[in-house]
Amino acid sequence: MEKYTLPKLPYGYDSLEPHFDSRTMEIHHLKHHQTYLDKLNASLEKYPEFFEKPIEILLSDLNNLPEDVRLSVKNNGGGFYHHSLFWNFLSPNGGGNPSSSFKNILVSSFGDFDLFKEKFSSVALSQFGSGWAWLVEKDGRLDIISTSNQDSPVSSGYKIIIGLDVWEHAYYLNYQNRRADYITAWWNLVNWSEAERRFNEK
Ligand SMILES: [Fe+2]
Repeated sequence: MEKYTLPKLPYGYDSLEPHFDSRTMEIHHLKHHQTYLDKLNASLEKYPEFFEKPIEILLSDLNNLPEDVRLSVKNNGGGFYHHSLFWNFLSPNGGGNPSSSFKNILVSSFGDFDLFKEKFSSVALSQFGSGWAWLVEKDGRLDIISTSNQDSPVSSGYKIIIGLDVWEHAYYLNYQNRRADYITAWWNLVNWSEAERRFNEK
């Protein structure tokens, strides 16, 4: 049975410089992401049939998992899944504005594009301790939420459109404790076409 595997980055570790530095990207991918993956795979050894399912399917129905793996899927499965998404939420050609059609969707949900960015940044900044900020969709409605640790929006029925890792491991080497500077830098890297693709995906 195939286990879950570490996805490759769709760009080089140094491609997001100067906003996200190469060393942070490499450690984030090869150490943090890899560790979530290894722990997830180890915990599911007893239940190899789960490797056939996309991890988001397991995360979307945690209560149906055997109790002895539920917490590992929530934490390590969440970490594995969120980082797999996160790399694709970034692009060396990112930042700036979304397409006019996706921008209009954000404007109709949040008033205007700058207000959307302000609200997202504020949610990311105020997430206490480790976690993520998310743009999510449920029942046709877009919302900005945060989750703690690796708790997944998909476990609460949300579709993830875009997400920002605000664990210190994502920024500490370059930005130390200045999460606000990291968030400001992130806006230069947001892969809007991936966000739009996910929004339109059934
Ligand atoms: Fe991370």
